[in-house]
Amino acid sequence: MSKYTIAVIVGSVRSESMNRKLANALAKLAPPEFSFRNLDIGDIPIYNYDNEENPSEPVRRLKSEIKAAQGVLFITPEYNRSIPGALKNAIDQASRPYGQSAWTGKPAGVMGISSGPIGTTAAQQHLRNILAYLDMPTLGQPEVFLHGKDGFFDSGGNIADPKTKEFLQGWMDRFTDWIKKHTV
Ligand code: FNR
Repeated sequence: MSKYTIAVIVGSVRSESMNRKLANALAKLAPPEFSFRNLDIGDIPIYNYDNEENPSEPVRRLKSEIKAAQGVLFITPEYNRSIPGALKNAIDQASRPYGQSAWTGKPAGVMGISSGPIGTTAAQQHLRNILAYLDMPTLGQPEVFLHGKDGFFDSGGNIADPKTKEFLQGWMDRFTDWIKKHTV
């Protein structure tokens, strides 16, 4: 069994998501003592204060999966210069009720890929603001802004370009060190 479990939250819920593909390719670059668990946010209901004391099963599942992990990796596209609503909703749901947030203290990493030329820059900055408020120590460098185009992934779902793969391997090394440093 892996020593460290990383909860992976992809901001896109579509079946052919580039960010989901990136999450899967990235997990292959991690050392063996790490396992990556993809969390589903597509079935999380819209946050409603009325339901806080009696959360639905998907919300309880999301919170327990986050709590069980040693760290969280957010991989998100950019929607209208911010994060997708599905991701913000999942973050809000798991942060409540007040004082019972599942996020507190969990070390995190952030990255994203989009078809736009600025490659999720604005979305990631918004996300970093939210994670700071949630008291999640978040890896600052290297930043990863990826511009997705045809051929980005090879037929096996790996990063096709050797230089991009090498860069992401360096990111993974930093990220896994970051998780170890923040795991008590
Ligand atoms: C987008 N897209 C987009 N891209 C970007 O770089 N900046 C942006 O602000 C936006 N805004 C935006 C809004 C909405 C509603 C959609 C649906 C899309 C394009 C987006 O990056 C592209 O669709 C990605 O492929 C989405 O990621 P997945 O689903 O492939 O992971």
